[in-house]
Amino acid sequence: MSTAWIITSGKGGVGKSTFTACIALTMAREGRKVCIVDGDVGLRDQDALLGLENRIVFDLLDVAEGHCRLEQALISPENEPRLSLLPASQFARAKELRPGAFRRILVRLKQLYDVVLIDSPAGIERSLRGLLNEEINECLILSTPDDVCIRNAERTAGVLEQKGMPRPRLVVNRLDEALIRGGEMYAAATVAATLDLELLGEIPDDSFVYRATLTHQSLMDIDCEARSALHRIAHRMLDVPGTAPLPGYGTGTLPWYRRLFQPILKEVKRIDR
Ligand SMILES: Nc1ncnc2c1ncn2[C@@H]1O[C@H](COP(=O)(O)OP(=O)(O)O)[C@@H](O)[C@H]1O
Ligand SMILES: [Mg+2]
Repeated sequence: MSTAWIITSGKGGVGKSTFTACIALTMAREGRKVCIVDGDVGLRDQDALLGLENRIVFDLLDVAEGHCRLEQALISPENEPRLSLLPASQFARAKELRPGAFRRILVRLKQLYDVVLIDSPAGIERSLRGLLNEEINECLILSTPDDVCIRNAERTAGVLEQKGMPRPRLVVNRLDEALIRGGEMYAAATVAATLDLELLGEIPDDSFVYRATLTHQSLMDIDCEARSALHRIAHRMLDVPGTAPLPGYGTGTLPWYRRLFQPILKEVKRIDR
């Protein structure tokens, strides 16, 4: 059975595209057939992250509008035959993608791949809504541990709920253990409790993420803390037995503003390792 995940966030720049590329690569290297759909129409990041900029011939909109067959638009990085990308259209506007056409593309992709990862725009942008349909099995919200991002993540969770999507799971990105210890940054558990979402994982802020981009390397080829965290999250997404479980959240009933102003948890939580 194939699983389609949509990866979204409250606001832009929280690490969705980086996260999606790294998770896809991990899953593909472990034998799954994986397809990334770059749903951030107009921005187009995934081809650069996967080193595929010069390989794009057709894109998502071309497939949606019947200008080409799906298979003609799918491209794979060298040496990663199990990983494919359906690129975004760089100059198109998101509203040009018809929801019905997108749903039909997902049906096809789920026949061809074990996992489909949709790198989507932030939830506060209307374009996210057009990507939501009943072919999506899992929703993931990525958030950084700051108030603005948490508040927008709450709104995004609301959009997903309104559209009848499965309850999203949460990954908190760019955590700094020293700041958390000093009570200056929310721990991932606090963000999860605030949003009342199940925590799927937490990723440290890691300068290797930047270095990887600079040297055109995949982060998953560099031995660093962020890679280890992403590895474990990929396993949790695949339900690999033996993956360290995280504490469960998602049962509270407090309104978001009450949860937001709970005192910061000062307990020192090691970052997902
Ligand atoms: N864990 C991390 N540590 C350090 N930098 C990160 C981390 N995750 C993402 N980044 C950086 O944040 C920026 C935005 O990431 P990106 O994946 O493009 O976000 P989005 O797709 O949500 O807009 C990029 O420069 C990326 O390298
Ligand atoms: Mg992006």
